[in-house]
Amino acid sequence: MNALVLATRELPEQSLSTLKPEFEVRVLGYSPAELDLVAEVREADALITLVSDPVTRRVLEAGKKLKIVANYAVGVDNIDRAAATARGIVVTHTPNALTDATADLTMALLLALTRRILEGDRLVRMGGFSGWSPDLLLGSDLKGKTLGIVGPGRIGKAVARRARAFGMTVIAFGRSPRDEKDSDDPPRLSFEELLRRSDAVSLHLPLTEETRGLFNLETFSKMKRGSFLVNTARGPLVEESALLRALDSGQLAGAGLDVYEYEPMISPGLLDNDRVVLMPHAGSATLETRREMARMVVEDVRRVLSGEKPLHPAALENAPRERARAAR
Ligand code: GLV
Repeated sequence: MNALVLATRELPEQSLSTLKPEFEVRVLGYSPAELDLVAEVREADALITLVSDPVTRRVLEAGKKLKIVANYAVGVDNIDRAAATARGIVVTHTPNALTDATADLTMALLLALTRRILEGDRLVRMGGFSGWSPDLLLGSDLKGKTLGIVGPGRIGKAVARRARAFGMTVIAFGRSPRDEKDSDDPPRLSFEELLRRSDAVSLHLPLTEETRGLFNLETFSKMKRGSFLVNTARGPLVEESALLRALDSGQLAGAGLDVYEYEPMISPGLLDNDRVVLMPHAGSATLETRREMARMVVEDVRRVLSGEKPLHPAALENAPRERARAAR
């Protein structure tokens, strides 16, 4: 009998069907809860998951035959990697493929905030545009401003490159020291210094025990008054109640969010707020990027099921505890 590949969703361009007839492929076709996965994973040799799929210890224990969990994402905080490692299950992900797409979306959110794109769109649609006006929708320049990158990894550095092209000064806070040979790598500052100096702060950290809730009331109080926050990383890095207070008090001028603390639920205060720009977790959502991610996932599944090493294993360092919802 062929090995069974279980995917929670179909991937672009029939990439999953390239695994046939070598392997049996089953697609759930819905977003499974933990218990759905526990029930479905029993016979699977490989599991292909999305960032929203809770691959908890229970799921991994139920998958007695599992050899690989291939996440169709770069972040792997939805997977209990410690439990996977303990059971000899390889976890893979899709680094690099989505770096540029996510960095582009970060800039799009920053520009939407500073140039008031959504307000402009609403104004025009509602018939409020009655001609050029000297003070209509004045925003702020990126040129001459400082962008603080929190988490200068692959995506953080790609954002730094783009921000410099817009004339911004880029600074960063992160665990890794600056690579002096890499001119894209921004200079490192302490967290507090970055908050104090930045006109906009952009988050590019993985979600771990240390980073969860990093942006809270205290953090916002240390940011420059009237600055912007952009989050294209993980929602739980930011306490949304604190973010709403910082927006209400004018401490923050605006926030561009692609991810949410209780995703896919959105805090009602955000929905009502004109100073936020909201996207539905779409950092990697370009056709080219999603195709490449699918290719990487399928390639690693094929390799692991054929007894080879995967090309894109996720490092175990910084393993988060079981995902937020399971822990709450
Ligand atoms: C998306 O959020 C990803 O981690 O790829």
